Amino acid sequence: QARQFFVGGNFKMNGSKASIKTIVENLNSADLPANVQVVIAPPAPYLEYANNLVAAPTLKVAAQNCFDKSSGAFTGEISVESLKDIGLEWVITGHSERRTIIKESDEFIASKTKFAIDNGVSVILCIGETYEEKQAGVTLDVCKRQLKAVSDILPDWSKVVIAYEPVWAIGTGLAATPQDAQDIHKSIRDYLVTSIGKDQAEAVRILYGGSVNGKNATEFKDKADVDGFLVGGASLKPEFVDIIKSRL
Ligand code: G3H
Repeated sequence: QARQFFVGGNFKMNGSKASIKTIVENLNSADLPANVQVVIAPPAPYLEYANNLVAAPTLKVAAQNCFDKSSGAFTGEISVESLKDIGLEWVITGHSERRTIIKESDEFIASKTKFAIDNGVSVILCIGETYEEKQAGVTLDVCKRQLKAVSDILPDWSKVVIAYEPVWAIGTGLAATPQDAQDIHKSIRDYLVTSIGKDQAEAVRILYGGSVNGKNATEFKDKADVDGFLVGGASLKPEFVDIIKSRL
């Protein structure tokens, strides 16, 4: 059974009301393909604003982070309840910038992933190795460890999309080659068969992220286990539409 092509746009800590309005209106008028799921993640202060601007039927808005408790004395954190309250259906967890800069642990990321899913919000779960880990030859071990923390507490992965993002490829202009991405995605899927079972492993989308742009996106077209992209920098630009249309 075919997995639906998925393109995420992570704006990170970029943008203003003006620039986000331009991006969303551009997507609304872009005649987006009906069979591609598109999810954009603006910074938290703009989530409701962006969501209210969305008109394209295949376009949804995600938060870039959430917390693993519904409410209370957690200053500065983002409640899954509040995301639902403003009409959102998606959140990103485990982005490498939160893992490395904010020092989020595998267990914390797993906990917030489970909390979001249990409360009806779908998750783009990011995994991936650093340059040092790649050099040390432990890429798959790192991905397995990050995934295991989640599968240890979350049995149902039907509302999870995995984004494999090698840290060395993020924002560097040095994307993984399509074949390297395919090979690691296949290895990740093979591992998932052992942890969440064959059916779920076959169904889960595995996105590639790291320096994807309007030009190189088409090069991943024939890679069976690359089910879409998580795009950073290029999601802020008109070429994001080319990435969304890269499978046509
Ligand atoms: O979440 C997105 C990734 O970190 C990729 O960022 O496309 O700017 O390399 P990038």
